[in-house]
Amino acid sequence: MEYRKVHLIYFSPTHTSAKTAYAIAEGMQPEILSESDITYGVPGSTVEIRGDELTVVAVPVYGGRVSETAMERLRVFSGLQAPVVPVVVYGNRDYEDALKELSDKLVAQGFVLVSAGAFIGEHSYSRKDMPIAAGRPDDTDHLKAAHFGHEVLAKLSGLSSLSELEPLEIKGNFPYKVKGQSTPQAPVTSEELCTQCEYCIDVCPVAAISIVDDRMFSDPATCIKCCACVKECPEGARTFDTPFTAMLHKNFSARREPELFI
Ligand SMILES: Cc1cc2nc3c(=O)[nH]c(=O)nc-3n(C[C@H](O)[C@H](O)[C@H](O)COP(=O)(O)O)c2cc1C
Ligand code: SF4
Ligand code: SF4
Repeated sequence: MEYRKVHLIYFSPTHTSAKTAYAIAEGMQPEILSESDITYGVPGSTVEIRGDELTVVAVPVYGGRVSETAMERLRVFSGLQAPVVPVVVYGNRDYEDALKELSDKLVAQGFVLVSAGAFIGEHSYSRKDMPIAAGRPDDTDHLKAAHFGHEVLAKLSGLSSLSELEPLEIKGNFPYKVKGQSTPQAPVTSEELCTQCEYCIDVCPVAAISIVDDRMFSDPATCIKCCACVKECPEGARTFDTPFTAMLHKNFSARREPELFI
């Protein structure tokens, strides 16, 4: 089976999932490449994906599971027995049940599972003084992702029908890991540094930031702690202070490599 159309679907507040998806697509060398960036929202009605399109879905791991916002937004996609490659991107700690959770969801929504992968991206909580997988995906990750894309196409080209696919054994457990209760918290803004350019409002995927009493206000009840505003503020005025940063830097600095299920 030959696929000339590739469709990327990604939720990616700090861009590592998006970069990984594009690197995989590079290895597929499609004639037509389309994208559905669900970082800032989704269409109001169902999007049907036809069987002549190969779809790559890339999302971040939050707490060993798929980001809840991504899971919720993915509901609009209906795969009409279309082949899919689920991809999770995690910050060098672990992806636990996230890849299985994503794969199960896509199959339940009508997609056919071809291959899957877990890749590494700079941790949302990484800071200059306490780096965690800083700069990833890097050149090596990029090459591995592109090679993975190539291998997926090679696998499909050996088939005459998707029904010939063998069941894919993906790492992860069901029932999925139960996440701990999340403490409401959001980044804070330094009033000395902030110029009120409002860029953080634009990059927030859940509209948690607004101006209240002439100051930038981040609603802790809405914030998903993705750290997009922290990484993208041009003045470095946003900080997210969490004890997890030091713990992750200390315990999860040893480089992990992508795990591929082809
Ligand atoms: C709330 C939250 C929870 C996270 N949980 C994990 C985790 O369980 N394991 C891990 O390795 N990385 C974890 N990360 C890091 C992200 O998975 C990682 O930085 C990813 O590359 C972000 O993807 P994006 O750049 O597409 O937004 C977490 C990040 C956030 C914001
Ligand atoms: S992006 Fe930074 S400088 Fe601009 S309004 Fe937000 S906190 Fe202030
Ligand atoms: S306010 Fe929260 S949800 Fe919005 S960009 Fe910042 S960390 Fe992400």
